Amino acid sequence: MAKGKKVTVYFCQSCGHESSKWMGQCPGCREWNTFVEESVEKKAAGKAKDSSSAKEELRTSKISEIDMQSKERMGTGFVELDRVLGGGVVPGSLVLVGGDPGIGKSTLLLQVCRSLAESRDVLYISGEESLQQIKMRAQRIGEFSDNLQLFCETGMERIEQVVERQKPQVVIIDSIQTMYSEEVGSAPGSVSQVRETTGRLLQIAKGMGITIFIVGHVTKEGVVAGPRVLEHMVDTVLYFEGDRHAAYRILRGVKNRFGSTNEIGVFEMREGGLAEVANPSEFMLNGKPKGASGSVVACSMEGTRPILAEIQALVCHTNFGIPRRTAAGTDLNRVNLLMAVLEKRAGMSLSSCDAYVNIAGGIRMNEPAIDLGIVMALASSFRDKAIDEKIICFGEVGLSGEVRAVNMAQQRVAEARKLGFDRCILPKVSISVLTDTKGIQIIGVGTIREAIGQIR
Ligand code: TYD
Ligand code: MG
Repeated sequence: MAKGKKVTVYFCQSCGHESSKWMGQCPGCREWNTFVEESVEKKAAGKAKDSSSAKEELRTSKISEIDMQSKERMGTGFVELDRVLGGGVVPGSLVLVGGDPGIGKSTLLLQVCRSLAESRDVLYISGEESLQQIKMRAQRIGEFSDNLQLFCETGMERIEQVVERQKPQVVIIDSIQTMYSEEVGSAPGSVSQVRETTGRLLQIAKGMGITIFIVGHVTKEGVVAGPRVLEHMVDTVLYFEGDRHAAYRILRGVKNRFGSTNEIGVFEMREGGLAEVANPSEFMLNGKPKGASGSVVACSMEGTRPILAEIQALVCHTNFGIPRRTAAGTDLNRVNLLMAVLEKRAGMSLSSCDAYVNIAGGIRMNEPAIDLGIVMALASSFRDKAIDEKIICFGEVGLSGEVRAVNMAQQRVAEARKLGFDRCILPKVSISVLTDTKGIQIIGVGTIREAIGQIR
């Protein structure tokens, strides 16, 4: 192949935007100070035509002709992970697993390898750890089949050779930031390297029908370093979230070409690796205080699954001119908005109060259905009156103080009943869709005033 000439270009580290000169603000994603210089090789114009396609027959296909037989999904050994993937791993797919360093990505994938290697050939390629380090981790997890091969390498050219020779069914790349291709001059982890190596992995995955899991570290801004360029190239994007100091981890599907997004899987980090948490609601409600004001249980749908979590609020008189508000686990702007609605529509003078809102358990919830829970917790703390611990609530709150309908009300009610709640405060308009309310008292409310009236 003709060698092109080396040129210096600038890439936005946040969105991958390419520019020939440095800029303070990225025109693509409007982030500041994200441009980094990289040198890449530009192919000589005109010669870039793919010579291989000229030889092969160019052929289009009819949908009815396409063969589906090898598309059976593989189980990963984790029900939680299978659900996030949409029912197991699709052969030939490219899956990105992102997350903060140290959250447990390598551990999760090694455990997946262990279960897949029972009946398939798996190749684990690590650019971060030595064979001894991987073995140390593996010993904590358990026995491994010899179908699992390990390979410590960072050069894409050698990885391609090994994959072509071994023809494994599943490959793990840990991590994409350590991989480099000699064709690109810049350092591993730079946008052009990440883009090039992912592109090559994509060709391997689609060309040979190999499933590839890619580990990607996330920068402190919360994007995979080297970044959104990568997200659109892969089939599935999973993020591993959670507090490194807490035991549980949440795996969230952000993009999935083979299933619904926003599904979550809950795991717990133990001595011997990650274990699934089959009933996350029970887990999240662990340690809920009894008879304390400012605490209520709300229900959020995470994908197809209802999750109950305790919302806590602390409202107290401010000592400064400007009240202080914080929100952990949910959106602060939403909390500010709901406080304004409470002030205007329910007559609570919150403007001179500090307010702290927290979703206990460390899970992040952004569904509008938790609005009513936030409102109830704030009102309960403001009045210093506890909400009955057998009450659960959900509903979206509008700017005029109305409680609006939410979807999947029946599933939420069923989950609440399963966990022993006996009263459910929900939007009045959602009552008509309920089909089974045995064993739980349903309280429909139209406005936040009616809902707050339930705090006695
Ligand atoms: P790791 O998978 O190395 O994180 P990542 O690949 O995302 O950077 O996870 C490392 C953490 O997990 C480390 O803090 C130790 C902990 N851990 C356990 O608690 N139990 C275990 O059995 C294993 C293997 C790791
Ligand atoms: Mg790792």
